Amino acid sequence: MMRHLVVPNREVEAVLGHVRARGWGALSHRVFSSEDGFSRLIPLDAGAPLELPDSLNYPVEMHEGVPDEKIETDWLTLLAVEVDQSTILEKGESWPSNHEFVGDMMIVRIDNEVAEFTDSIARAKLGAHPHIRLLLADDGVEGEFRIRQLRPIGARLADRILAGPSLEFAPPDLFSTEVAVKESGRVIRCDPTRAYFSTKLQTERLETLALAKELREELDRPLRVADPFCGVGPALATLLGEPDLVSDLLATDLNPNAIQLLMTNLSKWDKKPYPEGAPDIHRAYDNRLVGLADALTLSASSSIAGQWDLVLVNLPHRTIEFLPALVPLLDRSTPSIIRGRAIVEESAIEEANQAIRSALPDMMADKPQPSLKIKRDYSASLRLCSFEAWIASE
Ligand SMILES: C[S@@+](CC[C@H](N)C(=O)[O-])C[C@H]1O[C@@H](n2cnc3c(N)ncnc32)[C@H](O)[C@@H]1O
Repeated sequence: MMRHLVVPNREVEAVLGHVRARGWGALSHRVFSSEDGFSRLIPLDAGAPLELPDSLNYPVEMHEGVPDEKIETDWLTLLAVEVDQSTILEKGESWPSNHEFVGDMMIVRIDNEVAEFTDSIARAKLGAHPHIRLLLADDGVEGEFRIRQLRPIGARLADRILAGPSLEFAPPDLFSTEVAVKESGRVIRCDPTRAYFSTKLQTERLETLALAKELREELDRPLRVADPFCGVGPALATLLGEPDLVSDLLATDLNPNAIQLLMTNLSKWDKKPYPEGAPDIHRAYDNRLVGLADALTLSASSSIAGQWDLVLVNLPHRTIEFLPALVPLLDRSTPSIIRGRAIVEESAIEEANQAIRSALPDMMADKPQPSLKIKRDYSASLRLCSFEAWIASE
């Protein structure tokens, strides 16, 4: 899902001019017509700010992006230079049509069916996407730090494309995976080979922002937000970008590399210095508790337990199991929210909903009960879902 500006047909050219001049148009996705045919939907880049200037004051809608067929045909045309057409047809859906951009890197999944053509895929993808420096194959997420196993399979050196054995001639800098990503107008430093980061969660982060604003309205004050699995802090980038939304922040993670990048990010977002490296959890400022910590031990500290209005739980393969250890973080004297993501068998979603409800205290009577919403397939039978629970005050 991505943000689209909904613009009346006769204003589209002028608006496209503004959007492109600022670099806010989504590369590789195209403009398409609204259902009634009176407007066009212009896809916005993830980096475009949340608050748009008056010249772009049009409704914004979340939609699946429509891939730019030209780029798709470009890469397949380039592939056809190296792989014969009958093999391209035979392998059909196994060719990597999806990809993720992280800064000037592109990440693709290479299906086993087409693994023998990896070098050709790399040359074709880099040929079709001239702004990409490094192409990485995604071999899945591993370990408790949830780090993606990424393998360089192609790179661009000036006007040459390197893939296969020629990659050995690339200078080491070309393989650097620490990049800056712009999202919702904020710069996030990340390194997906050292700490979890996914650009695909932008929609999730925008939904969390909307929920946080609703809670702020309910409480009539800025929020104390805890993100005990914060990684490099992308969820916080969006929340801190909203004026007067966050008063106090807890941002912790177990992965020292994630904390190191988080410190760099927080210095930029808060515009004040944070320690270098990966310090243990400490109060960097009166309203900023940050550093290395095991989320499961946080509520044992009397200065941390019972202090937070919004708790984010983004460790989808263990969220439900960890809920009982995280609930004591909430300030139960006023309404609060737990927002989580979970990986669940599609056939067991109702069971998982029951497990979530029984792990949590009473909900607010005028809000919907927490219930998992499927966001995407995780495997043939598993689904990646998210939920929010509005917890009543005691
Ligand atoms: C799926 S990632 C999400 C990171 C970040 N919230 C984001 O959206 O990009 C889960 C994070 O939880 C961290 N983690 C795993 N177990 C943890 C624990 N017991 N305590 C604290 N962090 C933990 C991992 O290191 C990883 O950064």
